[in-house]
Amino acid sequence: MLTLFHKWASWATKNNAKHFPMDFKKSFWEVYRDHVGKIIIVCLSMTVFQSLDSLFPVILGWAIERQNIGLLCLIMTPYFLEEVFSWFVTRPFFTRIYSQVVGSFRFSAYSYFLSVDPIFHARRASGITIGKVRRTSDAFFYFTKTALDDFYPFMVVMITTLITVFYSSRLLGFVVLSIFSTLGLMVLLITTRVTFLLEQAYNKEDDRLNKVGVEIVTRAPFMRTVFASDFIQAKLSRRSLGLMSAEGTFFMSHRLMRGVLVFFYLVCILVVSGLLIYLSRKGAFSVVYALSLLMLILRSTKVILRLDGYVAAITSAYRKIVDFYAYVDSYGRQTFPVFLTDAQLGVEANATCTSDDISIVLDHVTLAYLDGEPLLKDISTRISIARSKSNKLFGIIGPSGIGKTTLLSALGGQLKPVSGYILINGCDVYALNDAQKQRLVALQGQTSTNLLGSLRYNLLFGLPYDLEVTDNYLIELLQLVGLWHLFESEKGLNTFVGEGGTTLSGGQRQRLNFVNLYLRARHFRPSIILIDEPTSSLDEVSEQRITQMISELAQDSLTLVIAHRIKTLAGANKIMDFCLVNEEKELLFYVRDDLFKRSQHFRQLMDGVITPGE
Ligand SMILES: Nc1ncnc2c1ncn2[C@@H]1O[C@H](COP(=O)(O)OP(=O)(O)O)[C@@H](O)[C@H]1O
Ligand SMILES: [Mg+2]
Repeated sequence: MLTLFHKWASWATKNNAKHFPMDFKKSFWEVYRDHVGKIIIVCLSMTVFQSLDSLFPVILGWAIERQNIGLLCLIMTPYFLEEVFSWFVTRPFFTRIYSQVVGSFRFSAYSYFLSVDPIFHARRASGITIGKVRRTSDAFFYFTKTALDDFYPFMVVMITTLITVFYSSRLLGFVVLSIFSTLGLMVLLITTRVTFLLEQAYNKEDDRLNKVGVEIVTRAPFMRTVFASDFIQAKLSRRSLGLMSAEGTFFMSHRLMRGVLVFFYLVCILVVSGLLIYLSRKGAFSVVYALSLLMLILRSTKVILRLDGYVAAITSAYRKIVDFYAYVDSYGRQTFPVFLTDAQLGVEANATCTSDDISIVLDHVTLAYLDGEPLLKDISTRISIARSKSNKLFGIIGPSGIGKTTLLSALGGQLKPVSGYILINGCDVYALNDAQKQRLVALQGQTSTNLLGSLRYNLLFGLPYDLEVTDNYLIELLQLVGLWHLFESEKGLNTFVGEGGTTLSGGQRQRLNFVNLYLRARHFRPSIILIDEPTSSLDEVSEQRITQMISELAQDSLTLVIAHRIKTLAGANKIMDFCLVNEEKELLFYVRDDLFKRSQHFRQLMDGVITPGE
């Protein structure tokens, strides 16, 4: 029996798994646009079935009064058919609408956060984001379910009941209409208002708890390092209690509201029953018919007591959805255009951005973060070098916090200038798709990181997934940077590397990231390579090897390297001191002797006044 159900269910939902990507810049009703056809079918069949269903007592009463078994069987037939129809049409359609709306939301939400500028919005709490996505996907489920599966049938039942009652007696119809619609309106107004306010408080507390929750899960090692477990637990306790009391207030106020409603409901039933006695005494209809009507009214109006639940579910789901859309909206300016179509990007699909000379052009570029002073102000510059030149290594130095990483992020297409343009080989990096960017730029950021997965997965991330790379080649590279011995005794290239890099030391992670960059650079042969402090956590031997490999890459690509240690830049063609940028209004690279004359920072580095890693 169980397998039968299972088979039927998988048949009915076989076309379920399909995304309808959502655009959060539009109204959330848009998500239903792709399902209008299904919704209409569901609503139409529900209109027929629910009205039949609410007429059940009257129809049965009618057959019983005639004492005719054959008639009884006949009028029951549509009810059986209705059920069968719902197995094959209504339920599968319902399921599709829910799961596609919810699934499309989840998919679009997570992709959205991949597409908002991760650097620009680095100050956001990931816990809040994840919490909101989970909460809103539930909200889409309840919103859809309650509206379609509860509220709509309720309206159909009420209308059928009213028509039947009016048809039986105008006086009765009038009384039923006025008292029950007053009751319904009361529920609607009170519940909507109360839920809206409570839900706002609830969402806020939920966000706060999620924030500390994710922080604990992901930063526990740090918290323990500073012996702050007690402190953070006390914070957790405050947040959790905050959410509990918000939840408590929410539930309690619904219970109270319902209590008041039940009271009014009983009064309504008293009035209606009294009226039925009066009408049947007067001979307006038979006692059996009066009973049937009473049953009809009782069955239909009973739902009014549940109406507050429906209204609360819809209102609170609506509030959650609106909250999510406002959150997305607060990201404001989109600075990280991924997942845009070529047309949206303005990409020339066949732009290869290749030329004999490799060039980087900055045209009145200003770089800044959300609420800070610009780090680079109105800089225009042109760096150009012949592809055939054998050493294309350029160094960047400067004290920490001055904006070197920011510049590299901008060149690598990670942080869009507030104003101005960046062109590489004449192409705007912000108007290229991923495939084009891969061939133009390879970037290794300052923070070493690793992904949850095997060593091989980490090494080959960003390369075509079906690329054939021999194990030997990977092992050779790992040996070169002094990493292989760590994994050799474990599962080799299949060794699992933990999330966030806690299983590797900072220097190991940095070398792992470098090998990844090296592989990408070797495969895509990009025009420029950008490397941000590749040796900051390395020992002398590893530093030498990495420096060697960088020089090798610099034979093919214009390679810009930020370094704090002058040794890393030993082979550099020219070096730029970032301190001079805003003064010179250009990115000027100098040969060593010239830089020595101009840059105090360089002199200090050479004299060893500034120690490495400062
Ligand atoms: N994502 C960010 N959001 C806001 N400010 C940032 C962000 N990243 C860096 N900053 C700030 O910008 C300034 C320059 O940072 P950065 O470019 O990393 O300097 P450098 O690489 O030269 O050490 C610093 O003051 C830093 O605090
Ligand atoms: Mg930096």
